[in-house]
Parts: sequence; structure tokens; C-alpha cells
Amino acid sequence: MKIGLFGKTGQVAQEIQRRVPANVVLTVLGRDAADFSSPMNVRRAMDALEVDVAVNAVAYTAVDQAETEQNLANAVNGLSVKALGEVCASRGIPLVHLSTDYVFPGHGETPWKPDDATDPQNVYGASKLAGEQALTATGARHITLRTSWVFSAHGKNFVKTMLRLGADRDTLEVVADQFGGPTPAADIADTCLALADALVQGHRGGTYHYTGGPDVCWADFAREVFFQSGLKVAVTNVTSDKFPTPAARPLNSRLDCRSLETEFGISRPDWLVGLQDVLEDLNSRVQRFKGSSRS
Ligand SMILES: NC(=O)c1ccc[n+]([C@@H]2O[C@H](COP(=O)([O-])OP(=O)(O)OC[C@H]3O[C@@H](n4cnc5c(N)ncnc54)[C@H](OP(=O)(O)O)[C@@H]3O)[C@@H](O)[C@H]2O)c1
Repeated sequence: MKIGLFGKTGQVAQEIQRRVPANVVLTVLGRDAADFSSPMNVRRAMDALEVDVAVNAVAYTAVDQAETEQNLANAVNGLSVKALGEVCASRGIPLVHLSTDYVFPGHGETPWKPDDATDPQNVYGASKLAGEQALTATGARHITLRTSWVFSAHGKNFVKTMLRLGADRDTLEVVADQFGGPTPAADIADTCLALADALVQGHRGGTYHYTGGPDVCWADFAREVFFQSGLKVAVTNVTSDKFPTPAARPLNSRLDCRSLETEFGISRPDWLVGLQDVLEDLNSRVQRFKGSSRS
């Protein structure tokens, strides 16, 4: 199978590159090869790609910054996804596309199902929803995989922020009224590869949810990070209004992932296990760095 991967440096993109099986030929398109701020550029890149299936792991993910960079967020998450879909549709190439829990309004406590009504509460969520809808309208055969609270040893994420803050504090206030499923980027990568294969085998496509379980609040996620990493940090629960942010966050980010399990046999990964792997990964990077700086 030949896969064209849009995204090189992101959390999920890096894990796909690490985990791709030997029988898959992966062509990776970073920002230099396909700049998603320009739909025309993305169209040209997709036109030139000789693959069986494409995976889009590119996104404008700066949630707060998106409030003031609406045009850029819309270009990357909306218009360029449309361009990608149009070329995929015209060439008959299926596509796996990633999206977010932020397309939902975030009230209540019930996990959102793939076909529940969307109503994003911030610019980032609206731009991701625009991308989903534009992709569907192109008629390209595709799977949209919505996920949440992604973490890995790469890039920026909550786990790395907690480790940085926890290194020189012994108490920390963390939001305890937002709930969701922390999701290891490594598991998303495996799922994207499995879904790409399913599309190549003729799957009709659709929208699915995939997050780690069990659902927790950020404060309990932080407690587990400190517990597993051995940092002695006491976490105090606070409500979201204690930390106002430019972009509103949904309180209920829980996603109902059952259709992915029923149709593909892919169940929610245990994020506590994924966290252990990420902490080991970060640790081995530190050891390698120490080793190389000694030699
Ligand atoms: N992170 C989360 O917590 C989260 C939650 C829910 C859903 N998701 C979704 O999951 C997917 C993967 O997220 P992630 O955490 O892997 O994202 P990420 O680590 O922020 O990576 C984003 C990727 O997009 C690339 N990118 C951004 N702007 C670009 C542009 N103009 N042209 C080309 N490439 C550009 C980045 O490249 P550069 O390094 O060059 O900027 C990077 O490779 C996204 O669809 C995201 O919306 C993420």
C-alpha cells in the first residue's frame, strides 16, 4: 500500500512515520511540500502524488491564537482540506482526515456520537467543522476521525506542560470541570494506518470517534502524570473560570467511540498505559541527550 501523509512534524504525523509497517510505502509531505495556508499549493501537491490513499495530519491547532488568526485557521483547517478532497475525489483516491471534539457544543455529560448535532464554541472548532463539511461536499471517499486531548513525547501537549510546571512547583491548580479522553498520538497513528488500509480495501467511509479511556477531567489527568513520573505535586481542583482563555473550551469533550469498535474492532486505548510509554520515551530521550553531550 502506498500512503501519502500530509504533515511531518506534528504529534500524530511523527507517530505515523515511526509506526508505519514495512510493507507500506510512505510519502511524507511537510510544510515545504504542501503549505496548507495556500489551498492552491495543497491542490498541486495532491495532484502530483502517486498513492493509494492519503492521510491528513496537518492542522492549525493553536486554539487560543485562532481567535485572532481566523483567516489562517480557516485556510489550513477548512479551505485546504476542501482542496485536498477535490483532488482526491477527481482522482478516486480515498482519504483519512483527523478532526476534533471541539466541533461539539460541550454541554451535558453524555459522550457525543458521530452524528450528533455540531455547534463549535470557538474559531478553531468552527474551522475544523468547516473542513469536515467541505470534505464531505467534495464527494471524496473518506474517513473523518475525531479525537481529543492528544499527547506524545513530541510537540506541545498537556503532559509535557505538566512535567515542565511540576519540575519546580509542589502545588498546582488544574481545571476539574472539563471532561474528555486523553489520547496517545501513537494509538491515533495505528488507527489512521488501519483506516487507510480499510479504505484501500473498499470501505465506504464515514465519521468516527477515537479517544483514550477512561474519560477524566484535566486535574485527574495531571495527577496521573505526576504519579507516574514520580513528581511530588499536589493538584488542586479549580473551575474553568479561574483560568480565562481567549477561546472557550467545551466542558463535555467525551466522545462515544463505539461505532469504531463495532465496525473495525478498534477499541479505546487505555491512556494510562499510553502515558507510561510516553514518559519512557521522554526519559530515553533525556538519557540519549546526556550520553551525547558527555561524548
Ligand atoms: N492536539 C490535540 O490535543 C488535538 C485534539 C483534538 C483533535 N486534534 C486533531 O488531531 C490532528 C493532529 O493533531 P496534532 O496534535 O498531531 O497536531 P500538531 O502536533 O499541532 O501538528 C500540526 C501539524 O500541522 C502542520 N501545519 C500547521 N500549519 C501548517 C501549514 N500552514 N502548512 C503545512 N503544515 C502545517 C504542522 O507543521 P509545522 O510543524 O510546520 O507547523 C504540524 O506538522 C489535527 O487534525 C487536530 O486538529 C488534535
